[in-house]
Amino acid sequence: MCGIVGYIGDKSASSVLMEGLAKLEYRGYDSAGIALLESGKIEVERSVGKLINLREKLSDKKYSANVGIGHTRWATHGKPSFDNAHPHSSEGLTIVHNGIIENYIELKTMLKEKGFTFVSETDTEVVAHLIKSNFDGDLKSAVQKTVQHVIGSYGLAVLSEANPNEIIIARKDSPLVIGIGEGEMFAASDIPAVLSHTRKFIFMEDGDITVLRKDGYTITGIDGQPVDREVKLIDWNPVMAEKAGYSHFMQKEIYEQPRAIIDTIRGRYSLEDSRVNFADFEKIQSVVKDFSRVVIVACGTSWHAGLIAKFYIEKFAKIPVEVDIASEFRYRNLVIDEKTLFVAITQSGETADTLSALRIAKEHGAKVISVCNVVGSSISRESDSVIYTHAGPEIGVASTKAFTTQVISLFLFAIYLGQERGTMSSDEAGRYLGEVLKLPEVIEKVLEQDDNILKLAKQFKDASDFLYLGRNVNYPIALEGALKLKEISYIHAEGYPAGEMKHGPIALIDKDLPIFILCPKSSVYEKVASNVEEAKTRDGIIIAVVTEGDEGLKGICDHIIEIPDIIEELSVFPTVVVTQIFSYHVAHLLGLDVDQPRNLAKSVTVE
Ligand code: AGP
Repeated sequence: MCGIVGYIGDKSASSVLMEGLAKLEYRGYDSAGIALLESGKIEVERSVGKLINLREKLSDKKYSANVGIGHTRWATHGKPSFDNAHPHSSEGLTIVHNGIIENYIELKTMLKEKGFTFVSETDTEVVAHLIKSNFDGDLKSAVQKTVQHVIGSYGLAVLSEANPNEIIIARKDSPLVIGIGEGEMFAASDIPAVLSHTRKFIFMEDGDITVLRKDGYTITGIDGQPVDREVKLIDWNPVMAEKAGYSHFMQKEIYEQPRAIIDTIRGRYSLEDSRVNFADFEKIQSVVKDFSRVVIVACGTSWHAGLIAKFYIEKFAKIPVEVDIASEFRYRNLVIDEKTLFVAITQSGETADTLSALRIAKEHGAKVISVCNVVGSSISRESDSVIYTHAGPEIGVASTKAFTTQVISLFLFAIYLGQERGTMSSDEAGRYLGEVLKLPEVIEKVLEQDDNILKLAKQFKDASDFLYLGRNVNYPIALEGALKLKEISYIHAEGYPAGEMKHGPIALIDKDLPIFILCPKSSVYEKVASNVEEAKTRDGIIIAVVTEGDEGLKGICDHIIEIPDIIEELSVFPTVVVTQIFSYHVAHLLGLDVDQPRNLAKSVTVE
């Protein structure tokens, strides 16, 4: 997830772009850059790290350009570096891009054969050269031809010396809005970037290509035919704008999950041959049949993702899996060797305990894969291979979209292992991949229940304790639900395997204890249903999360939240989203700092 801004008008383009990028820094902050059309020539300024570095670089420069494009980056292809920072240029034109070009290797090979040279590791530079190779004086048609050959997602803004009076922007599966001013036009990947200049916006749709001129705009489809898009008036205040209209980053990130999952799986599966592929897997591919066991190590929410992955990998690849908390793993007498596949799960890639565990595993000869959201982070650099989760930056300290994208990455990884090791047939893999594609819609349906979950949050916000119960893949969700509530509402909550309740926690149950029971349709449904009965007999207040249409628990439970029907393995997605929304509302209703809860940090770099 990166941030894009474009401007054409009479104002100082560098000021408009820098102001816009500051509002978009939450979308990415590993490097930033702008391109200006200065006296007919494109001038590009870029720098690594936060926007402040670019601002300092520009402080002693005097640009008078009134046309330009800008970008703040969250790396997907190529580490954060000067060369990989946007804009990317091809003689006489330059572009900024948000998204992932899936067929960039094939396009790069073709462009190299045509004589283009590459200075970055990005997929974006391929698009710059492709536009150039299609350019015959008409920039818009060059962009149109280019996007017809691109597979993947893009928000694009293109600037050319040959066409100084226009900026071309294009969108597919990556947000892009047009801001309409008086004698000036804006482009942005998100409204806040230019909200101080205009309130009139058009939300571009997939396949739209727009020519922005100082005095107006023209939108066509990918086939060149004109299209009409509604102009909307946005009346957000500045605080609402920063969070795209949501009250908190955490809420925004909960709502981003359908899109984040699409970004995570993009380009990693093929329905034609029912296969999963990961880039950068050479070191693993050659030895994948040799592993005798998998050891997963992580902390907190990432550890919960690991506990779910154990079910997936053992089922699909038939390899024993151990899941450990990184701070515990470090101080044991480890039995690890070159037949061990070590998997580190971490959204930040900087967690000190996980990093140390990874180093120890390497010393013992294990091959290391990390599942990580931050390209170029310490853990990703020290791993043999990385599965990037492509969730975009997560600002809220409580992890939401980082977690669900970890879980779906691990689900695909388990299919990959099963296929490579010959324990999973193509038919089976195809069936599971088909189920994965249902997830965005399933999560959307859970999000539609926000108001129902809010009612429950209002009813239970003053409870002093909570119990979360689940079994099988939903046992880690019980842990995650309890952790989320603790983290942001400071209410004591315990997560337990439902079958373990009778061995101790049952003593806690009385008429004042709310119990979240995760009981979707599954192979253990009857077992969990019996646990519901046991809890109800002790007067506990039961909030059950069940599959829609399930009548079995309706008479017994105090409250029911229905989730869409999905296979058991993937039921963790709707169940966890219910618990995220509940925790969010409880903390918000209690007036707490949802995004920055006390005593917690987003990245724990100390032991
Ligand atoms: C999640 O909500 C927490 N903030 C925390 O448990 C987190 O998952 C843990 O610190 C691990 O972080 P990592 O994924 O960046 O390694």
